[in-house]
Amino acid sequence: MIYVTRRSHFSASHRLFNPKFSDEKNVDMFDKCANPNGHGHNYYLEVCIAGEPNRETGYVIDLKKLKRIINEQFVDKVDHKNLNVDVDFLSGINPTAENIVIAAWKQIVPHITEGTLHSIRLHETENNFVEYRGE
Ligand code: NI
Repeated sequence: MIYVTRRSHFSASHRLFNPKFSDEKNVDMFDKCANPNGHGHNYYLEVCIAGEPNRETGYVIDLKKLKRIINEQFVDKVDHKNLNVDVDFLSGINPTAENIVIAAWKQIVPHITEGTLHSIRLHETENNFVEYRGE
């Protein structure tokens, strides 16, 4: 089994809050991330495909094709957007890294026809990232 990973970049803003919480509780829970007018991140997304190399091409998945899927299904829809209000598939979702990576999985997985989607990592800061494996 070979694991092939494509790394992508996007910039977006968000505000972390739960509308059911008071302003005070949102600040307690989310601290600076609950700033009413939001804040931005430079995100990195790593999409990993597992599979055997194709006998004829030697590829698990053509990385040009994988790049196109990631861009069309996810990155182009979130890049330079406000994740709380601009993105249909994040509507009503608190855009934590955890929730964003689950949304990325749902967007991308139906389009992977070579190999299987193994994991997606989302780096929100230099030191913080989350990983989802679809379950
Ligand atoms: Ni943030």
